Amino acid sequence: MSKFNRTLVTAALPYANGPKHIGHIAGAYLPADIYVRFLRNIGKEVIFICGSDEHGTAIPIQATKEGTTSQAIIDRYHDLLKLNFEQLGIQFDIYHRTSSQLHHETAQEIFKEMYDKGLFTEEVSEQYFDEQANTFLADRYIKGTCPNCAYNNAYGDQCEKCGKTLSPKELINPLSTLSGNSPILKETKHWYLPLQDYEPWLKEWLVEGHKNDWKSTVYGQSKSWIDGGLTPRAMTRDLDWGVKVPLPNAEGKVMYVWFDAPIGYISATKALFKELAENKIEYAYPQHTTLKNVKAEDWKTWWQQEDTRLLHFIGKDNIVFHCIIFPAMLKGTNKFILPDNVPANEFLNLEGDKMSTSRKWSVEMADYLEDFAGKEDVLRYVLTAIAPETKDSDFSWKDFQTRNNSELVAILGNFINRVAVLTQKFYDGDKVPFPKKTSPKEIDLMAELERCKTAIETNIENFKFREALAEYMNIARAGNKYLADNEPWKTVKTNQDLTDTVMYHSLQLAAHLARWMEPFMPFTAQKLYAILNFEKANYKKNNFEQLIAGHAIGQTVYLFSNIEDEIIAKQIDKLQATKLKMTENIQIENTVTPSEIDLKPTITFDDFAKIDLRVGTILEAEKVEKADKLLKLKVDLGFEQRTIVSGIAMYFSPESLIGKQVCVLANLVPRKIKGIESNGMLLLAENADGSLKLMQPEEFASSGSKIA
Ligand code: MF3
Ligand code: ZN
Repeated sequence: MSKFNRTLVTAALPYANGPKHIGHIAGAYLPADIYVRFLRNIGKEVIFICGSDEHGTAIPIQATKEGTTSQAIIDRYHDLLKLNFEQLGIQFDIYHRTSSQLHHETAQEIFKEMYDKGLFTEEVSEQYFDEQANTFLADRYIKGTCPNCAYNNAYGDQCEKCGKTLSPKELINPLSTLSGNSPILKETKHWYLPLQDYEPWLKEWLVEGHKNDWKSTVYGQSKSWIDGGLTPRAMTRDLDWGVKVPLPNAEGKVMYVWFDAPIGYISATKALFKELAENKIEYAYPQHTTLKNVKAEDWKTWWQQEDTRLLHFIGKDNIVFHCIIFPAMLKGTNKFILPDNVPANEFLNLEGDKMSTSRKWSVEMADYLEDFAGKEDVLRYVLTAIAPETKDSDFSWKDFQTRNNSELVAILGNFINRVAVLTQKFYDGDKVPFPKKTSPKEIDLMAELERCKTAIETNIENFKFREALAEYMNIARAGNKYLADNEPWKTVKTNQDLTDTVMYHSLQLAAHLARWMEPFMPFTAQKLYAILNFEKANYKKNNFEQLIAGHAIGQTVYLFSNIEDEIIAKQIDKLQATKLKMTENIQIENTVTPSEIDLKPTITFDDFAKIDLRVGTILEAEKVEKADKLLKLKVDLGFEQRTIVSGIAMYFSPESLIGKQVCVLANLVPRKIKGIESNGMLLLAENADGSLKLMQPEEFASSGSKIA
């Protein structure tokens, strides 16, 4: 028996700073929705919480970009996100917002409580300050080169390329996004959460306690953070947008967005129960009797009782916040439950490249919903089928089309359509026939249905939605095979008994398909219920028979339709145009100014022929002691391994280089650098700003290959 009596599901509160793309949906919202719908269907008590994250530097930065106010930005995008989620059938019990008064009060109360308990340390430290804009530069107001992967557009709080959580001082070449200037350092006071104090507890609760039940990706990332040593993390910022720090002498200070945002889960739950208590909203799922006649303070049952199971659905860039920082806050306050699991997904790429709203390399929700109105479930289906559950995965329009045409239309839609049309044709009153004698074929069919149902349940319970969906499709496959093996369209002329038996069993299968479709494709499930003239409430869990003989089915409609090549071509063209623009932008950004041209004098071909260039693979990389700029590399040239000392330490971390292919000048005279003999040189491109890029073969080339 599980120790839990109810489940509180949260999905990451999206920043209300712009539209969200299909990667966000596949990462957090869709799996959460499937899970919640599944629990509701099996009669479990569950609430599903989400809302807009309306603080942090992302919002005012977007406002400046669009020439408007932060308030206008959050109002616009909060409404858009809320609408898009609804349109996609993501059925939250509440979609709240962190700009609400209730949220501000809740966050301030928790901050004050933690302060009173002595859970913060106060520190004066130097932080980046933009002299021209006369302001401190928090998080995204500062950009620079990532020390982990050398991406040169990393934010002060996180690198979007490799996902690493950063602090502004770790950035190489930091620049203010306000003025483009190099910032100065200036002293300021902040409140810190001493994460190191939670280390022993985190080792017990997370490293030991969740070794076996968390996804290995989530567990691994959290554990490596803890193993890397935890340090105090500032919970406040110098900013004028956010929740005000509720202390005297805290003028101009607001809470760090990652402090207040997860508290948004709590304030949203409070808001839900307040609205329910005041009967402002009717609870959408009346079968959950315990949620009737609620009182406003019942939110506490969901956050403070140990028999509540708390689950956070998020994308991988949110792991440390949900697995370490927020749990430390919850643990510190010592009155809330902790997450039981954090089923984070990896990233979804688009046509082989990382999705990004700012680079416009994405499929935005709003665009999909407009271009494919009525095909919301197709997106739900495809995103579940390719969900990045254990590693990054890729969305491509061709694959989207194939999955629609050869899976939804050809397998699922086809089965339902044949069953409905044949029923209407054979039994003119559209009545379900009486089954006659059964054969091993029916036994097999029923066994396969049972197997699939169990597999769907187990997989969903283990957050394996991809696998669950595959098993769901196996029911339809079994149905098609059953029809093909029995050919009722032929036997109807010769063997009425056999035909009745086959149609009866096929109709039952269709009813089960309706019921199990609902978590994955809720809109289509409604259509299927209507075709069968059946209802979810009448589904009998342990019965094969759902539609009794004599039951009249409804009107036939197509559940799915083919997506033609032109439609797909249009989407691909749209992306192609983006790609062209991106290359143009890159060219404009990186145009070399005349003074930098600086061409060297002409050489003869013979001069060139003296140079021996080879492809090498970096096997090892380490910092050279007492030399900030140098890395000692071991490079494989195929025929031998070389030690090369290279002045690239400011641009690449040693770890990021391992396994990289590089171009090596292989016949350079050896020389000693800091006492180490260097045998060759790496080729690098130097950007106008002085940053360096490795020269690499476009595709894999074996070590030692000649470059000419
Ligand atoms: N706004 C964050 C993001 O989009 C997620 C916040 S989740 C919460 O990455 F827990 F803080 F709410
Ligand atoms: Zn990085």
